[in-house]
Amino acid sequence: MSEPAGYILGQSASAARRLELQDRHFEVPSEQLLDALALRPTDRVVELGCGPGGLTRRIAARLGAGGSVRAVDSSAGLLEQAAKNLAGNGAEKVEFVAADVSKPGAWLDGADVVVGRAVLHHVPMAEYLLGRLRPALRTGTRVGFLEPDFRSPLARLAHLEATGHPEYAALRVWATALNDLYLARRISPAVGATLARSLAAAGYRNVREEWHEFPSDALVIENMLMFYDEVRGPLESYGILSAAENAEQQRQLRALLPGPHPGVWGMFRVVCEA
Ligand SMILES: C[S@@+](CC[C@H](N)C(=O)[O-])C[C@H]1O[C@@H](n2cnc3c(N)ncnc32)[C@H](O)[C@@H]1O
Repeated sequence: MSEPAGYILGQSASAARRLELQDRHFEVPSEQLLDALALRPTDRVVELGCGPGGLTRRIAARLGAGGSVRAVDSSAGLLEQAAKNLAGNGAEKVEFVAADVSKPGAWLDGADVVVGRAVLHHVPMAEYLLGRLRPALRTGTRVGFLEPDFRSPLARLAHLEATGHPEYAALRVWATALNDLYLARRISPAVGATLARSLAAAGYRNVREEWHEFPSDALVIENMLMFYDEVRGPLESYGILSAAENAEQQRQLRALLPGPHPGVWGMFRVVCEA
């Protein structure tokens, strides 16, 4: 099997800005995830795929002087953005590590908590990582993930589109383009929906799952527009959407502003113990 290519989405300052906007959009389920993990001030937390540090900042804000976050990512550009983002926001509690999280390593040593937001779906066959992660953790380590899902909401959108809402084609095309892009890169676009089952199959204990859906409001639509800009090149090179189709889809999405409309995506929040 060929080695997976690198992270498909952007790693520049503008991509980091989209992830910052996304952090605000994810505020409620992110804080609920940290509540469900019962974060304690002295916890040693390992975060998988920290990106520009939106969740890292939320974790650091809950830790006391004895607590720490090891924030791991494979993108040097996003780690640099994260360091800037954390300056003055708890940076003294954070250690940044450049590593591929699909290969559990020494960066997991001593973890009381392992957490990841919107990272597993970027890993090829993410289930394999979940299984290999468990023996690398001490029994009782608290583990939690937030993973997006834009496949199950598509069923409702398809029904609405077929029953008097042709304008929702713009939401459907966006979700389909994202799915096709991730499949072309052999990553795991639907891992959120099967995450609880996969964790239980790998022997994690006390697995709990919640679904959190976002209405397609102005913030969500803005994120979708930025996504189209960010991956215009890859969508074109994989034959998923030409630049002209991309521009037309953006026009149709703007016509849906300000919303809200039914959700085009939501997040699975899953917590358990190793
Ligand atoms: C959608 S972003 C989410 C970033 C951050 N967790 C957040 O919620 O704002 C996915 C992140 O996972 C990182 N990533 C993807 N595959 C990775 C891998 N195999 N190892 C380490 N990081 C990875 C990317 O570089 C990117 O920062």
